[in-house]
Amino acid sequence: MDKIVIRGGKPLSGHVPITGAKNAALPILIATLVAPGEHRLSNVPDLVDVSSMLSLLGRIGCPSLKHGSDVRLDTTRVSFCEAPYDLVRKMRASVLALGPLLARCGEAHVSLPGGCAIGVRPIDQHLKGLEALGAEFELSGGYVHARTSGLRGAHIVLDVPTVTGTENILTAAVLARGESLIENAAREPEIIDLARFLRSLGAKIEGEGSGSIRVQGVHELKPAAEPHRILPDRIEAGTYMVAAAITGGDVTVTGVDPRDMGPVVEKLRAAGCLVELGTDRIRVQQSGDLLPVDVTTRPHPGFPTDMQAQLMALCTLAKGRSVITETIFENRFMHVPELARLGADIQVEGNRAVVTGVEGLHGATVMATDLRASASLVLAGLATEGPTEILRLYHLDRGYERLVEKLQAIGADVERVPDDLRDRIPTSLSATVA
Ligand code: EPU
Repeated sequence: MDKIVIRGGKPLSGHVPITGAKNAALPILIATLVAPGEHRLSNVPDLVDVSSMLSLLGRIGCPSLKHGSDVRLDTTRVSFCEAPYDLVRKMRASVLALGPLLARCGEAHVSLPGGCAIGVRPIDQHLKGLEALGAEFELSGGYVHARTSGLRGAHIVLDVPTVTGTENILTAAVLARGESLIENAAREPEIIDLARFLRSLGAKIEGEGSGSIRVQGVHELKPAAEPHRILPDRIEAGTYMVAAAITGGDVTVTGVDPRDMGPVVEKLRAAGCLVELGTDRIRVQQSGDLLPVDVTTRPHPGFPTDMQAQLMALCTLAKGRSVITETIFENRFMHVPELARLGADIQVEGNRAVVTGVEGLHGATVMATDLRASASLVLAGLATEGPTEILRLYHLDRGYERLVEKLQAIGADVERVPDDLRDRIPTSLSATVA
């Protein structure tokens, strides 16, 4: 397995172009199923999760072509209404096939995603919403087998504003007979992007982003004439903004929508950073001491759980005590023991982590079991004395396009070392690895 080696301590400076959002691209790619024909998408990030979603679509019978960030996808025929275990196992977001397949084929067989490193992650709300729209489910052999003799509009009140649950229900409702109202719907920008995409196919949707989404079902949807541009990745942008802060640097993320970055901007300012907002860019400058910040993760428009680990990395070097409370996922502190290996002082009590800033972090070999935890280790590595080696890059490849190249372009001393080049690892680290 490849690894990343970072020799930290260099202030980063320059511009980082932000790619399309993973969590918008995935639901939109699979939602193309509701409109048979040829679809074009732009600003699609080059990520392992995107390749997995295109493989799933290929398995369903829909071939695709990806050139850079442009994707062409042909959903004229569907030959297989299944998201099999081998793909769901690699990418939990395959559960997003449930709504689109039901709407398109009247049936869907989707392997149960099960829990994952960050929590149990049930799909009861997905099933509740789709059942209200007229689907029937049977759980057997590790699969959800869903069938409907015709979807019809319904009033659905979600118990929790689940992101992918809202996406599954919305994508099914656009082809249901009559009106649907989804209340306590997730309000994330990625939901708004999905609604915008579905509307470009002819869907009738109102209220996305408000928590109350109203859908008038239509009989048929058609691919849009113009390509749909995936919205920018606010989590990728936030990660590079923290990279500027943690290295005492001066970094501008470009191609972003600052309106979606409010909670992250607010916390970086509270941490003592100078943050300037442009129309499609954000500049973050940091010099002097980092201040402690308290953060509680919340559904949008609150502070995103997907930025919690990165912000914690920043807090490890603040002058004082920060309290980080995770309310979305019950097990999203797996970066804590790894950050501790780099010298961080963090005490976890239930869903609260108390981070006492230290004078400096030191290099070590670390690995993480989820995507954002891995990102937090990269950020900490950028600030350590001595080299840090990050193992198990699988997660980073799922969610950050060209991470090493982008960091190198703003001055980081970082490289990806293929497994067969172990002897390029600095001697101080080979001892730790052995
Ligand atoms: N929940 C339920 N029942 C359900 C669905 C969710 O109880 O039927 C609970 C979950 O257990 C969790 C909370 O609701 O406690 C929120 O989970 P949600 O369903 O919103 O998460 P998700 O849709 O599975 C998406 C992102 C995650 C991101 C979360 C929260 C995608 C593909 N994934 O997951 O992204 O953390 O929303 O914002 O959109 C990541 O990119 O690293 C990532 C994990």
